[in-house]
Amino acid sequence: MKIAIINGPNLNLLGKREPDTYGDVAFTDYFKGLEEKFSLEELIYVQSNIEGKIVDFLQEFGEQSDGIILNAGAYTHTSLAIADVIRAIKAPVIEVHVSNVYAREKFRQYSTIAPYCMGSIAGFGLLSYDLAIEAFLLKGK
Ligand code: DQA
Repeated sequence: MKIAIINGPNLNLLGKREPDTYGDVAFTDYFKGLEEKFSLEELIYVQSNIEGKIVDFLQEFGEQSDGIILNAGAYTHTSLAIADVIRAIKAPVIEVHVSNVYAREKFRQYSTIAPYCMGSIAGFGLLSYDLAIEAFLLKGK
């Protein structure tokens, strides 16, 4: 199975950014563990702080992957362009969040992308990404 992980704005700061909310582990370090834990045909990780670049990634990996794990960061709550591209691509998308967005500010409790995703996983720290991979593997069987 070919899976792509796409992280959005400020997620390159995981490990340094608000550790009480997001933990103290950098995603690049965590990703090495994911590669070791899941022996997938392909596991790709990309990140951008730019909305249009995330749209480009979704268009690209939406053709090449069997599944996409997307943490769109703050764009989750605002982006119509990301919602539209999820509707347009072939690959199913799982929305993930490190924090439990439903236990936070009101503006984080709305997602433009959730209706077009296969499902959403939030609040398990970086384990949210493991759970999303597990979901694709279980669904694929
Ligand atoms: C986040 C939650 C968003 O509300 C926030 O803007 C982020 C990170 C999370 O993973 O918990 O940047 O997507």
